[in-house]
Parts: sequence; structure tokens; C-alpha cells
Amino acid sequence: MSTKLWGGRFSGSLDPLMEEFNASIDFDRRLWQADIQGSQAYARALARTGLLTEQEAEQIVTGLERVAGEWRSGLFDIEDGDEDIHTANERRLTELIGPVAGKLHTGRSRNDQVATDLRLWLREELNTSQQQLRTLIGVAVERAAHEIDLLMPGYTHLQPAQPTRWSHWLLSHAWAWQRDALRLHDLLVRVNLMPLGNGALAGNPFPIDRDQLAQDLGFAAPTPNSLDGVSDRDFVAEALFWATLTMMHISRWAEDLIIYSSREFGFVTLADAYSTGSSLMPQKKNPDSLELLRGKSGRVFGNMSGLLMTLKGLPSTYNKDLQEDKEPLFDAVDTLNRALPVAAGALATLSVNAQNMARALVPELLATDLAEYLVRKGVPFRDTHHVAGAAVTLAESQSAALSELSLAALRSLHPAFEEDVASVWSYERSVEQRDARGGSSRRAVQEQIDELLLWLVQPASE
Ligand code: ARG
Repeated sequence: MSTKLWGGRFSGSLDPLMEEFNASIDFDRRLWQADIQGSQAYARALARTGLLTEQEAEQIVTGLERVAGEWRSGLFDIEDGDEDIHTANERRLTELIGPVAGKLHTGRSRNDQVATDLRLWLREELNTSQQQLRTLIGVAVERAAHEIDLLMPGYTHLQPAQPTRWSHWLLSHAWAWQRDALRLHDLLVRVNLMPLGNGALAGNPFPIDRDQLAQDLGFAAPTPNSLDGVSDRDFVAEALFWATLTMMHISRWAEDLIIYSSREFGFVTLADAYSTGSSLMPQKKNPDSLELLRGKSGRVFGNMSGLLMTLKGLPSTYNKDLQEDKEPLFDAVDTLNRALPVAAGALATLSVNAQNMARALVPELLATDLAEYLVRKGVPFRDTHHVAGAAVTLAESQSAALSELSLAALRSLHPAFEEDVASVWSYERSVEQRDARGGSSRRAVQEQIDELLLWLVQPASE
């Protein structure tokens, strides 16, 4: 008789090529803990139905504890026939406690088992991500509070546009990350449902109390439909989309810093701990940490699109294609959970070059303020925009800075210009005028800091 779990109806043995092709133990072994946790709870659920005696259940639970101990200490031997983590754990349990191990799988299928394991595993990992994301946001907010005085040019189309605060830029990314944290919290609600007790597809024939089982495993509820329960991988797709969007935000933030750390900008200097040199050019200090963060966002996106392709077109309930859910999920979660602390570290340790930021503030950034000056004198904005544009051209033709235009020159463009136009040429004033909620003024930036600080002290679950 074959030793395979499903060996009963088979006479020939598996082609070794197929055996290797079919096996998932190489990657799903990392589910060992979730698999044991799920099995222990299931053994207790079986005992409550009377299908297992209390003593049998206890044998299974403690046997599984020993299997867990082997995994923990690196002593678990994966054997040739171990197709996946579920068969490996059951094989070892049988060796340790004998035939009573054969009662564990009563009414259960690897279909409801694997979906449950994956949810248990993901729940843990995402809790780590949530903490790391909050740490990153905390670093950005802390810097924003300390460096609120620093002004820098803001860009659109990567062209200098208007003065803003460095803190305002920091917070612009912190808000995107906060949305990621909120989104994560929301998707965890759908991860935290239990397929166990769905059997292979049609449900469990024994009087398993799935509500109790869900509660034992810390799930909010059992999945409501067994056909759906064994085949639903929306929680994987959602986690991958979430990871993709989070990495995309990190990538855009990294891209800004790559630009700001270039010699041409020189706004920030990355700490040595997050940069590397060139093997050829001795003068180089490269922002590798940021480039890798940017690069890895593509890889996570690839995992997401790959999984969606795998899911598309599957007929109802479990199909072996679903085994392909794990590698992209593992890779995305690993990538993200390694990226978040690197991002936080790079941000916490970079230094800001206030002088270079100040040097990049040029009077042309105040062209909008010049137009707004006229607006305050009652001139319609459409006209003022035109006048300020003409002032820029005039200054250019005189090879002068916009702020160097004489009052007479300005009055030649519009009679509403007066002596007090001199007040326009202050970057501080420009920034302070943008005081409507969400703007660059000190008050408006402080408001954001306070709001994020308040959010950060609430538990991640809120
Ligand atoms: N290794 C499988 C997976 O990852 C476990 C489920 C196998 N189920 C089955 N009917 N062959 O999906």
C-alpha cells in the first residue's frame, strides 16, 4: 500500500518528476506552526463531538507539541514522501504517537486545512507589518516636528513650483502610509475568518462546533459557505494589493529622496549605514537602500498580478492551482516586512542640508505670490496671473531676479503695485500664507503632526 495520504485508490507510484512538481514542502514548510496550531484546535473540536476520547485528543495535542518542538529546534526531518507541510506533520505525528494520529484528519481535508493555515500565518505577519508601518510613520512625524522650520521648494512636474516646508513633504508621505495602515486594518477583518470545518468542499459531516473552533483559533467567525471557504483566496489577493500599494508609496518616497540626495539638489545626505560606494569610482556614495526599496515595489506588484492570473478562470472550489498562492504571498510579505524597517532606518538617519534647501529657494517660486498680492488689491486672479507672468519675462529679459524688478517696472505692468510689494519677497511669508487646513503654514503643518501623533498613540486595532 502506498504511504501517501490519498494513496488508497492508486496502484502505480508517482513519476519522480511529477512527485517533485507536485510537492510544496519546500516552501509551505514555513506554515508549520499554523498547521500545528490548527490541528491541535481541530483535535479538541473532534473530542467535543465524542469522535475522539479526551485521552486520544490529549495524545494528539501533546504529540503535535513534540512535532512543533522539532521544527522549533531545527530537528524536524523532512522525508522523501513528505508532499507538503500537512502530510509531513501528520506523518511525524504518526511516528511519535502511533495509529491514533490517524483520527486527527476525521472530516477534515487539506483543502480547509491549508486555507486555514495560510490565514493564521498571514494574520501574524500582517500584525508585524502593522507595527513596522506605524514605526515608519512615527519617524516621519518626529522629524516633521523637529524640522518644522525648514523651508524648501515644492515641485510639480519636478519643476520648482512654490515654497513649502520640509515637514510638509515628510507628512505628505506619512499620510499615504497611514492610509496603508488603515487599509491593512480593514483587510485583516477578511483575513480573520476560518475555513476549517469546510471539509474538502461540501462541509463537515460530524457535529463540529465551528463557532467554538473559530473562537479557539482567534478567528472572528467561521467562513459562511464551504464551497467558497476552500477556494476563496481574496484575502491573499487583497494582501498582495495592499503590499503593492504600500510598496508603491515607499517607492515614490524613495524616488523623492534619491533626487533630493543627488549632488544637484543636495537637500539630504543619506547615512553611511544606508548607502554603499562604487567598486570603481571612489567618490561615489549611492542611495542603494532607496533604490532597492523602489526596485522591490515592482517585484511585489508582479506577485499580485501573478496571483490574479492564477485565480482567474478557476472552476468552483479547490483546484491544485491554488497551491500557487503561497510563493507570491510569502515573497511579497517578506519583501514588505524587510523593506519597512529599512525605510524607517534610512529616514531616521539621513541628515538634512538646510543651506542647500535655502539656496534652492529662488524668487521665481514667488511668482504666484506676486499674482496673489494683486488679488489682495482687488485685481481678478486671471489678470494677476497674466501680469505676474509678464513680470517673470521682464526680469528674464533684464537678466535679473524677479524680486529685483523695480517698483516702476512692476507698475508699468499694472498700476495696483505699491511700495508694500516688497513684502512679497519672503519665502517664510509665502509659506505662512498657505494657512488653510492641509497647507504649508506652521500652524497647518502642526495640526497634521498633532493629528498623526494622536492616531499613533491609539492601539493598532483602532
Ligand atoms: N499543498 C496543497 C496546497 O498548497 C494542500 C492542499 C492539497 N489539496 C488537494 N486536494 N490536493 O494547496
